[in-house]
Parts: sequence; C-alpha cells; structure tokens
Amino acid sequence: MPVLSLGYLRLAVESADRWDPFVRDFIGMMPVEGPSPDALHYRMDDYPPRLVVTESPTPRLEAAGFEVLNRSDLKDLVSRVEAAGIPTHAGTAEECALRQVTGFAAFNDPSGNRVELFYGPVLSHRRVELPHLSGFVTGDQGMGHILLNCVDTEAAYEFYVGVLGFTERNSLELPGGTSYFLGCNARQHTLGLSPASGPALLHFMVETTEIDDVGKALDRAHDLDVPMMQSLGKHTNDRMLSFYTYSPEGHATEIGWGGERIEDSMPTYRITEGAVWGHRYTPPPAGAKGLPQ
Ligand SMILES: [Fe+2]
Repeated sequence: MPVLSLGYLRLAVESADRWDPFVRDFIGMMPVEGPSPDALHYRMDDYPPRLVVTESPTPRLEAAGFEVLNRSDLKDLVSRVEAAGIPTHAGTAEECALRQVTGFAAFNDPSGNRVELFYGPVLSHRRVELPHLSGFVTGDQGMGHILLNCVDTEAAYEFYVGVLGFTERNSLELPGGTSYFLGCNARQHTLGLSPASGPALLHFMVETTEIDDVGKALDRAHDLDVPMMQSLGKHTNDRMLSFYTYSPEGHATEIGWGGERIEDSMPTYRITEGAVWGHRYTPPPAGAKGLPQ
C-alpha cells in the first residue's frame, strides 16, 4: 500500500526566535514541550507535533515525514526503495522516541531531499488548543501539502509515483521544466515536484476548517508584519482559497481553506495558470530571505 499522507515536517532553521512567533502567533499551531530539548514542537491535532523546528547554522529540510499504514507496509516500501538503489536507514529506538512514532525509515530522494516513512504515531489525548483558528484539516488528508525542489523532476516522478505509489493528479509546464502535483489521499496534492538546481523545501500548506480562519490569518499577517508573498486567491488545481507569506527561511507558506477532495480516481490534466483569480506576487522585502532555489 502506498504512503497515506504527509505526517510531519522537521526543519532546521537559522533562528528559532524568528520561527516561534511565525508558527505560534501567525500560523496558529500549538507549541508544546517535546522530547528534544533543543527543538520547538508544534501540534495541529492529536498526532505528535507535526512541525518540529531546530536551530542550525545550516538551515534545511531535515525530513518530510510520510505516514504508512503499519509495520508491514513500512517493510514493503523500504524494500521497494532499496530495490530502486537508494540506501535506507532504519530509525533507532531513540530516534523513534524523538519523533514519537513506533517505527520509521529515512533516506534521500533522487534529488537529495530527506524523506522519512513512519507508522504508529504516539497520540496525545489532551485536546489541542488553537486559540487563533477553528482547526486544521488533517485526519485522512494529513498535515497539508509540500512542494520539493528537485534537480530532475522526471527522476523524482519515477521515484514518488513508481516506488512510493503516489498518483499524478496534474502537471504544470514552466520555463525551467515540468512541475508535478501528486496525491496519496483525498487531498488533491500532498506533494509537488518543482524543477530547481538543488534540493529544498520550496513550500508548505496548511488548511483550516473554516473560511473565516483564512481571513483572520490575513489579519494576523498584517498585524505581525509577516511578509506577504501571494495575495488571496483560488488555485486552479485543488480549488483552495488561500494566500502565501514568506517564512523566516523564505518558504512559500500557504494558509488555505476549501481544498477539493478527490474521492475517486481521476484522469490527470495539465494546468496553464496557478490561480483562477488572485495570488498576486510580492517579492521578498529587502533583507528577507527569498525562496530556496
Ligand atoms: Fe500549495
């Protein structure tokens, strides 16, 4: 069985002091104590912290964690990854404890992006407290979606579709190559592959349960001077109503509502515009980080 959803992101960042208000006060995730004293942990639901941020002189995507069904599926998928010529690392008991999962395996995708496949999240039974919003859309759709920079999007496509079992939902032709949008559950896309010169996390999206949550997030971006990247708009593929800001590391950070659920198999298609309306672009302000290229 293919991967189920995006489960977590682990980011190494330049300044934890800049990330904490961005995640806590702007995005609205719940800060919690976690197993690693050096990291910031944020919950979105009853899963272990979906976002873990560690300060480092070398900011990078430490791992994109994708959930799989159980131990047996992890074993099967690891065998497929190894058969594709990619070495894997089996998570130790200590590493599992840091992620609050029962088991995981880690490896680099063909572009060098670090991926972890995990099963058995250790749930919290204390209600998540999200004072800024009604809630995040997670459950069978996972924590949201990401776009990864890929040196060779065709090789990345072959890996994620052919080995990990993602489904191509749509593509977009760009001057630098083709971007692919892949799904693994009802969320229209969980993973996007973008042509670039090196690996990086380009973008992440979280979805809120009510439309007013997006409006209130716009208000918080204004009040907290979070740099705007794309104005309010509606996407052509997942029909998401959303806007984008720059994270302190320059990631395109999208907060959206109303993403379409794809319940049945659907023929893939090519889009020619990213938005039906809106999503007007603003470059990063002077001194701020742009998107990782
Ligand atoms: Fe997005």
